[in-house]
Amino acid sequence: MGPGVVRELAEVVGSAHVVTDPELLAAHVVDWTGRFRGHSPAMVRPGSTAEVAGVLDVCRRHQVALVPQGGNTGMVGGGVPLAGELVLSSQRLTSAGDVDLAARQITVGAGVSVETVQLAAAAAGLRYAVDFGARGSATIGGSIATNAGGINVLRHGGTREQLLGVEAVLGTGDVVSRLSGLVKDNTGYHLPGLLCGSEGTLGVVTAARLRLVEAPSQVVTALVGFATIDDAVTAVSTWRRATDLLDAAEIVLAAGVQLVAATFGYPLPFDRPCAAYVLVEASDHDDPTERFAELVAGAVGVEQVAVATDAARRAALWRYRDEHTAAINTVGVPHKFDVTLPIGALAAFMADVPHVVAEVEPTAITWLFGHVGDGNVHVNVTGVAPDADHLDERVLGFVVSRGGSISAEHGIGTAKARWLSLDRSAGDVSAMRAIKRALDPAGILNPGVLLA
Ligand code: FAD
Ligand code: MLT
Ligand code: ZN
Repeated sequence: MGPGVVRELAEVVGSAHVVTDPELLAAHVVDWTGRFRGHSPAMVRPGSTAEVAGVLDVCRRHQVALVPQGGNTGMVGGGVPLAGELVLSSQRLTSAGDVDLAARQITVGAGVSVETVQLAAAAAGLRYAVDFGARGSATIGGSIATNAGGINVLRHGGTREQLLGVEAVLGTGDVVSRLSGLVKDNTGYHLPGLLCGSEGTLGVVTAARLRLVEAPSQVVTALVGFATIDDAVTAVSTWRRATDLLDAAEIVLAAGVQLVAATFGYPLPFDRPCAAYVLVEASDHDDPTERFAELVAGAVGVEQVAVATDAARRAALWRYRDEHTAAINTVGVPHKFDVTLPIGALAAFMADVPHVVAEVEPTAITWLFGHVGDGNVHVNVTGVAPDADHLDERVLGFVVSRGGSISAEHGIGTAKARWLSLDRSAGDVSAMRAIKRALDPAGILNPGVLLA
């Protein structure tokens, strides 16, 4: 990318917002896990949809590839410039409207963090239903681009279910904008739904209209220790059939809990370890604790239970789950496999996958945790080289052989692009490529991601 392009970009966004200093770029060319590292001539920070359109126009005319970047918390190497692309940061797209109480909606810029939306909703007595550990840094634009899931999917759905409209600049240069928040609006193709999960390959999201839900008035959280993984998975299936009150059902195993406690200096949750723990949360207008206790008492294999209803003790239980990602990063650069299995196949998969890893990487450590309520387990492997692709090939193939999906909530990114056809038919991939060609004919948006 020559100086002429930098000059044109500066004309669009102002020279203060074209960052070329390698020290300032450093944090933007490597991903959160440290597995994906690239380089970039510049990071550009447009402050409006019109400026995003201007940047894309410069890139199209000069055939400059770019990577949209939000909080850079993505897990699949999709938001970093691995092949020297320009970084387009959403840092300045931080406009935020008031909560529309009547409609229970809010309009925010793409660079607003998920936590900021949660706090704005809470201040208005409502709730933004999407939640996950990176809430403080992950942006609304990034969460739309990845269709982020998180811990509340079983009750409220993922990001796509909260998305009433988007504003975005497509690779063609067209600006699409539908932020009216009409709940029923069947006028043509549902572009917000298409952009959600498109991983920055079709357009740059600049703003979104989001659905808010009622805030729970009474919440109970429990950490339930089980004798086996099978008991834990079976209990969650049974609870889900018995009640609609569950907000979250997350699984962690003994080794992960031990690692989190040792890494952050927390006490172990119980005096003796359990094979598997379910962190389960329920909420209602009336105190759900009694109903919840009945369900836990009826489960097979329960060895220990800790229950909390006040915010501080609930947070103390959540840290054993939330801090898995950070704790595993201290062991080594992980290979992350974010996969879903049919619920009936999940327990056997979790028992078998460490052996599958050991077949190809005998000294690796396999860590398992995740969103058991919706069949999504995070298989993390440490002690292997970042480019040990044979491991990815083996694990993802194993997932598909058990009827699962190779991406539950993180997306395909660059990490899994080679294996897309394991999980999608030739027809599916061909339709995706046709959409990509139509909306990004110059191929400038995230060229290495998803359909590389
Ligand atoms: P980035 O990492 O910056 O980008 C992610 C992708 O979106 C890239 O492909 C990028 O090009 C694209 N993109 C970013 N902004 C835009 C935009 N404005 N327009 C178009 N494309 C864009 N994910 C889950 O789904 N569930 C979880 O439970 C979860 N927990 C996490 C916990 C931790 C501790 C961490 C570090 C990550 C977790 N993640 C989780 C992954 C990550 O936080 C999500 O994928 C999040 O949505 C990424 O948002 P971001 O703003 O950081 O996006
Ligand atoms: C989580 O659920 O904690 C995440 O999706 C992040 C991870 O996989 O590490
Ligand atoms: Zn997750």
